[in-house]
Amino acid sequence: MKKIALSVVLLVLSVLTTAQAADVANGRELATKKYACVSCHGENLNKPIDPSYPKLAGQYPDYIAQALVAYQRTNGTSGRGNAIMASQAKPLTRKEIADIAAFIGSLQGDLVSHR
Ligand code: HEC
Repeated sequence: MKKIALSVVLLVLSVLTTAQAADVANGRELATKKYACVSCHGENLNKPIDPSYPKLAGQYPDYIAQALVAYQRTNGTSGRGNAIMASQAKPLTRKEIADIAAFIGSLQGDLVSHR
């Protein structure tokens, strides 16, 4: 009985910590300071410095996270093959990706007309 109670507690704890895993404030720090994603994707990640650079603000976090992981895969058989973004994505940990993605999703962007 004790074992069952303990596993229920552990299960609840793991659900709670997973739900809190993405840290928007840390994502803002990473995207604006540590990795300066804004230097190309522009103010609020919504004003790219070149028309060929995408706006990111308001994009779904899971799309952003998936894209960043794909840029990290440079094995030539899967993933995204863009040299600029490959070098940007390379140093990011999974936690940093989750935080940056949550931050980007929290932004108001021109590309989002509803929500
Ligand atoms: C040196 C300029 C530069 C910097 C700095 C930069 N990016 Fe990019 N980013 C680009 C370019 C160029 C593309 C388009 C690449 C392509 O065609 O696949 C892009 C594409 C992306 C995409 C794909 C968007 C989509 O709609 O599919 C994401 C996500 C992204 N960048 C996130 C980031 C993050 C997060 C950072 C900071 C860690 C960052 N970028 C830093 C230039 C940059």
